[in-house]
Amino acid sequence: MATTPVFTDVLIIGCGAAGLSLALRLADSARVVALAKGPLYEGSTYYAQGGVSAVLDAGDSIESHVQDTLIAGAGLCHSDAVRFTVEHGPKVIEWLSAQGVPFTMEANPEGGADYHLHREGGHSHRRIVHAADATGRAIQTTLEERARQHPNITLHDHYSVVDLIVSRKLGLNDNRCLGAYVLNRQSERVEVIAARFVVLATGGASRVYLYSSNPDGSTGDGIAMAWRAGCRVANMEFMQFHPTCLYHPQAKSFLISEAVRGEGGVLLLPDGSRFMQNFDPRQELAPRDIVARAIDHEMKRLGAECLYLDISHKPADFIHAHFPNIDAKCREHGFDMTKEPLPVVPAAHYTCGGVLTDLAGRSDVEGLYAIGEVAFTGLHGANRMASNSLLECLVFAAAASADISPQLPHSPIPPELPEWDESRVTDSDEEVVVAHNWQELRRFMWDYVGIVRTDKRLQRARHRVELLLREIDEYYGNFRIDNNLIELRNLALVADLIICSALERKESRGLHYTLDYPAANDDSPPRDTILVPHNFAGKGWSPRWQNAV
Ligand code: FAD
Ligand code: SIN
Repeated sequence: MATTPVFTDVLIIGCGAAGLSLALRLADSARVVALAKGPLYEGSTYYAQGGVSAVLDAGDSIESHVQDTLIAGAGLCHSDAVRFTVEHGPKVIEWLSAQGVPFTMEANPEGGADYHLHREGGHSHRRIVHAADATGRAIQTTLEERARQHPNITLHDHYSVVDLIVSRKLGLNDNRCLGAYVLNRQSERVEVIAARFVVLATGGASRVYLYSSNPDGSTGDGIAMAWRAGCRVANMEFMQFHPTCLYHPQAKSFLISEAVRGEGGVLLLPDGSRFMQNFDPRQELAPRDIVARAIDHEMKRLGAECLYLDISHKPADFIHAHFPNIDAKCREHGFDMTKEPLPVVPAAHYTCGGVLTDLAGRSDVEGLYAIGEVAFTGLHGANRMASNSLLECLVFAAAASADISPQLPHSPIPPELPEWDESRVTDSDEEVVVAHNWQELRRFMWDYVGIVRTDKRLQRARHRVELLLREIDEYYGNFRIDNNLIELRNLALVADLIICSALERKESRGLHYTLDYPAANDDSPPRDTILVPHNFAGKGWSPRWQNAV
């Protein structure tokens, strides 16, 4: 049975900080449809703890935030993207406040109130605006409520996008995105949504690893869809591991915010001694690639299952006031952070690479944008600095909105789009294939493509992913799709992109550390790893990207 095709001005795939803030900015001048593949709130945004970085303190400066970001990025940040993002920081915080996000405030000497600012690794000033230790939840729920109230925004949860519809695939001459095929998970039917503009705001891909701080849906769908549509993808070797997730079988890698270290928390070996002084003069406040690697090194050296994070020397009142949610979660699992060190391990946390975009969020395909964690804007370089991610979501949502809005009155209406063809598939007879491949993929990515790499491990992973890709492709061609299969297909492709990028980089830099090339290659200027799909037909607006390997 055919479904009635939907047409909208802007289709936004993703309802986190990036997608919802774009929807709200566009909605006064455009009809917007925004999709989430699970419950509306379920993305990394909801789980963010630390906050959003922005220069708001009189003693701080744009220059200092720019320099800290460049240092953390280990020579690979694009200075135009860094400056652009940092300069827009204070304005987007103002915008969020105006939407009603309840940031933590503190009294100032003039009798008013200022934002209370935290400090985190890599930042040389206090500049993290936060809502206690559940900043993401405050942002997500506020933006969701605002979006639900807007008559021009239609929100759909449990709508999983399968693929983008691109004009060239339909035999048309131009290279434009016209809409998407979307699995309605309630009706289990694939629907067509046509749009003048399509925006990927699908978040990252950290679930490609066995242990991750991210929610289950961080499966790199946007990166995989963009790649299949003919977009370039960059710097996928730079997967960030957060140093401190709670070590407990039921805690699902619950994050212990970097703000805990920012407020004086120290890392300890099982014998109670500190060790970060042996790795970096900034100790616990070094950028997180250094801290995660130091923890990994000490765990392997000692054969330890975890290390410890201790803030129990601070008054209990202080801990309750600053970290109420972390404290409550730890208590659920039997730990009292006011009295004892917490067991911690690193886990995959953030995707620094992604769909290559310009400073307006435009991808290589006309009418297709990418914003938030799915995108590669050049901001993060080889390592993202703490709390620069939500900032990037908000700044690039504003930039994409400013770019799309004036085009709307004269942008083309898509032609009639073909329906999803299910004529040659049947119901799966072996669901176990999908479940098995999910496990296998995430396990070998953890073992072979994790915090410390070698060419041999990467080659092993490559052979396995090639096999999996073939098997998944065959399965996808024969059986009716569901969300698990959509995610697995995307994860396997993203794993391949990560492995290929890691094999390209013959040096250690930022988050990419390999025992075969343990130093940075300083003989030539640092270069991005830009992968080009076989169907690439972009304009190649390349001056910013001429250093690609
Ligand atoms: P997300 O918030 O991840 O949203 C992705 C959306 O895309 C979801 O709605 C999802 O349903 C949808 N989607 C995905 N695929 C599909 C599909 N195929 N079809 C339809 N919809 C789809 N960053 C900071 O700056 N500060 C912090 O303090 C901080 N703390 C963090 C703590 C944790 C535990 C985690 C996991 C991350 C943290 N980060 C932090 C990183 C930051 O939260 C994320 O980078 C950011 O929230 C990403 O926002 P986003 O809008 O790009 O994507
Ligand atoms: C944290 O609170 O430690 C996470 C911050 C981030 O990922 O930016």
